[in-house]
Amino acid sequence: MKKPKVFITRQLPKEAEEHIAKYCDYEIWNEEVRANYDDVLEKSSDIDGLLLALISIDENLLNHAPNLKVVSNFSVGYNNFDIDAMKKHGVIGTNTAGSLDNTVADFIVGLLIATGRRIPEFDRYVKAGKWRKEVSIPYGKDITGSSVGIIGMGRIGEKVARRLRLGFDLDVNYYNRSRKPKIEEELGVNYLEFDSLLKESDYVIIMTPLTDETYHLMGEREFGLMKEDAIFINASRGEVVDEKALIKALEKDQILRAGLDVFENEPVDKDNPLLKMDNVIALPHMAPTTKQTRDNMMTIAAKNLVQALTGEEPDNLIPEFK
Ligand code: GLV
Repeated sequence: MKKPKVFITRQLPKEAEEHIAKYCDYEIWNEEVRANYDDVLEKSSDIDGLLLALISIDENLLNHAPNLKVVSNFSVGYNNFDIDAMKKHGVIGTNTAGSLDNTVADFIVGLLIATGRRIPEFDRYVKAGKWRKEVSIPYGKDITGSSVGIIGMGRIGEKVARRLRLGFDLDVNYYNRSRKPKIEEELGVNYLEFDSLLKESDYVIIMTPLTDETYHLMGEREFGLMKEDAIFINASRGEVVDEKALIKALEKDQILRAGLDVFENEPVDKDNPLLKMDNVIALPHMAPTTKQTRDNMMTIAAKNLVQALTGEEPDNLIPEFK
């Protein structure tokens, strides 16, 4: 029987590639520069499955891919999917839910500490030869004794809360669409209304997925509510934040610093004003990028792809397609 044909945008760990090879005819993008939307479009005319991340699956691409049955994201976020269009074309989508929670939670705690204590800034300072006996170095902001507000108490939010409560004994508050009484009880975290959380937190961590409701959730009004010496952390999706409003808030000293792993446009434009600010840590969407987690994500994505193409319900079929 003819095997289904798939296109894969990144190198896979050996076992994952072998698994796909067993069931599919496959092509793996092998260029140094990453595959983009146009590259996927070009490969689409006769494929049954795609394995990719962060590339838009929209009406145009679906029109070019009449055989397509499944798009397997090697990511947890699936804001690259136009769900309605995919449903209309009979295409399902999967993700790698649960594959990166600990890795991302570790990273967020690291980013919080790095931003509060200005670690990358002082790395640059020392390397630039500015560390001299007669000059005292500027201060950072304490982690211990701080109040942290987490916006979005999903799986990763919970893991961040756990680390900060049990490891650092911080005062942790959260805002979420629905309350999480079990987490409140187990970890001793408190629910606050959105505005109160912004007003009361020394560190605000945004953890929501990107949806129509969370697009630009943080804007001028919201940054205006934060404390002047508060720190803002984003490792979720750039579009959850109105970047112009964030730039303004930092320029006007409405907030103290920001630690950013994500941007409205990625890769971030080299002229983006955020990159010129000493009070900003800018990182390349790297929260889940450890070897173990990436391999795990690719393996899960490969399994989802094969399941979908061999008539099984994929383990990580995203809820909208159930
Ligand atoms: C990473 O940002 C992911 O959604 O997997």
